Amino acid sequence: MLEIQVEEFYFMVQDIIESDEFIKMANTKHHIKTSVYDHCLKVAFLCYKHHYRFQCKTDLYELVRSALLHDYFLYDRINKESGDNINRFKHLFRHPYTAVNNAIIDYPDLTPAEQNAIKRHMFPIVPIPPVTKCGWLICYYDKVASIGDYLHIQKWKKELVEYCPQIFR
Ligand SMILES: [Fe+2]
Ligand SMILES: [Fe+2]
Repeated sequence: MLEIQVEEFYFMVQDIIESDEFIKMANTKHHIKTSVYDHCLKVAFLCYKHHYRFQCKTDLYELVRSALLHDYFLYDRINKESGDNINRFKHLFRHPYTAVNNAIIDYPDLTPAEQNAIKRHMFPIVPIPPVTKCGWLICYYDKVASIGDYLHIQKWKKELVEYCPQIFR
């Protein structure tokens, strides 16, 4: 990936990743070895790269923004002191709805397609599929990213660290 493309990615995500709520996600553990911040950034970057690699016709801004907000549930499920720790089963089914509700509050201009992509990213665990190509891409790359998180694969960070180190918290 070219430096200019990584800079474009940063430009697209900057307003969200520098918001107070998103920064807090850097302290929320996710998939054992990562944070919600890194996981969401990773899904957004994988979708962004897919868009260029396969010359997608999808709206790039819509794709990146909904990927970034797909796990915007804003609670710490694991930390017992947070007061929000709900069991894994409830979290699995409920968090896409919590994420979309939080995202609508903080980003009221979220399009219906972006909302659908966030709400449906847990397909097939939540058995209602997304309705757009963006939604399917997020659904797919969320699985890819999650497996990588559990295996602690850090390869995705290389280009971002090289061209855009300020992106990491
Ligand atoms: Fe999720
Ligand atoms: Fe996710």
